[in-house]
Amino acid sequence: MEDHDTVLVVDFGAQYAQLIARRVREAHVYSEIVSRHTPVSELLARRPAGIIFSGGPKSVHVEGAPSIDPAVYESGVPVLGICYGAQLVAQQLGGEVARTGLGEYGRTELEVIARSALFGDLPTTQDVWMSHGDSIVSAPAGFSVTAATDAVPVAALEDAERRIYGVQFHPEVAHTTRGQEILKHFLYDVCGCRPRWTMTSIIEQAVEAIRAQVGGEKVICGLSGGVDSSVAAALVHKAVGDQLTCVFVDTGLMRAGEAEQVEDTFRRQFGVDLVHAKAADRFLENLAGVEDPERKRKIIGETFIRVFEEVAAETAGDARFLVQGTLYPDVIESGTKDAARIKSHHNVGGLPDDMQFELVEPLRNLFKDEVRAVGEELGLPEDIVWRQPFPGPGLAVRIVGDVTPERLEILRQADAIVVEEIKKAGLHLELWQAFAVLIGVRTVGVMGDERTYAHPIVIRAVTSDDAMTADWARLPHDLLDLLARRIINEVPGVNRVAFDITAKPPGTIEWE
Ligand code: XMP
Repeated sequence: MEDHDTVLVVDFGAQYAQLIARRVREAHVYSEIVSRHTPVSELLARRPAGIIFSGGPKSVHVEGAPSIDPAVYESGVPVLGICYGAQLVAQQLGGEVARTGLGEYGRTELEVIARSALFGDLPTTQDVWMSHGDSIVSAPAGFSVTAATDAVPVAALEDAERRIYGVQFHPEVAHTTRGQEILKHFLYDVCGCRPRWTMTSIIEQAVEAIRAQVGGEKVICGLSGGVDSSVAAALVHKAVGDQLTCVFVDTGLMRAGEAEQVEDTFRRQFGVDLVHAKAADRFLENLAGVEDPERKRKIIGETFIRVFEEVAAETAGDARFLVQGTLYPDVIESGTKDAARIKSHHNVGGLPDDMQFELVEPLRNLFKDEVRAVGEELGLPEDIVWRQPFPGPGLAVRIVGDVTPERLEILRQADAIVVEEIKKAGLHLELWQAFAVLIGVRTVGVMGDERTYAHPIVIRAVTSDDAMTADWARLPHDLLDLLARRIINEVPGVNRVAFDITAKPPGTIEWE
């Protein structure tokens, strides 16, 4: 049963709500994002320990500016307004928000001018991150001003009796040096939350929920080697053991060692009933002669579904449930209107809607960092838990042109060198992705006294936060040199190495 407190984050404009919810969870308090259109009665029915208003992009004075039913202030549930949220609190309760021209952007020094539960014993001056055009110029009656900056007289305000707080700065961002402590003061000291949202409780609750949902029925799970499906499978296995069958569709388009790792981890380490469907020949046959990237994706997607369906029918024909690694951000994206839409690829591994399964989604409430922490706690290997994103169609979209066994072998070897050296250099976690690309042309080179005519390999390494935009990684020249020499010396069929220095946009991360 749920024995943790819940704090709701009302989303007034997407950009910050997720980060706030994550920070609250890092303080071991469960939090969920809710749309500002949710009726206040519904919010209160969740019996939240506190409600946080996120920042938002607009001015409270703009027509149609996002708002909330002021009944929320009468509920007795503690409220913390952040940035736009603070201005909304001030405006709705009778204070004044004005276009003073005294906006602040970036790092600012905050001065705490009155004792406040929010600031506790924190230093009276601290760096905070500001991003606002309008400013609160007077606090509502009954409120006291507890912090100011050079530019704005009201940087934090509160009605301690009614437990309504507002901060003009962003406690959720790292630039606000004591931000997490301020949030914790709100959660623990104002809302009275207990830090019970821990790895152990996340796992226990997930296990209980899976058992309650699944009962004695059989469950099937498609494993891809990625972190989400791996953690989902490990959780379901912990919950219902042998009732779970995992199907790993081996497309033959994975990177070096990945298929072995899936087997090793799930069959040998966890003792999962794993079906390793070795379907490389079928994928290659269907891909023969196909050069168009979108056609490759379509063929791989369709072949995947076919193989999965066949194997599932053969090995777990009586399964009633299908595991899916849906994460909380996917749920938010489809749930709240305000969230900015992140590019969603037609994901290979995605199964058609008409499959006759009920879904088990044990990661539905979790952020990616929580999924990784659960994975670590469950004992999944680092290579899976910290795997960089890898496209469903795999190496097929990293071979420009026809996908053949020979080209796959070249690319796989070159890519393994890139991955190995990036890890050795300690850059693996800093980079969003780093990999090799094979272009299906050949160039002239000379090795020994011989003229060569072989493939170039392109190294692609990017930094990014969300894959929407990316920059090419400034890899050290010595590392690039090492990569070029190793790839050319060790991988037959390669005589040239290039480094891709295209940002996204205008490039994409993948070459196809
Ligand atoms: P692009 O190349 O569009 O890639 O900049 C953005 C992110 O998406 C990944 N990607 C894919 N993932 N199926 C996937 O599951 C695909 O077809 C696909 N194409 C690209 C890519 O690796 C990057 O992280």
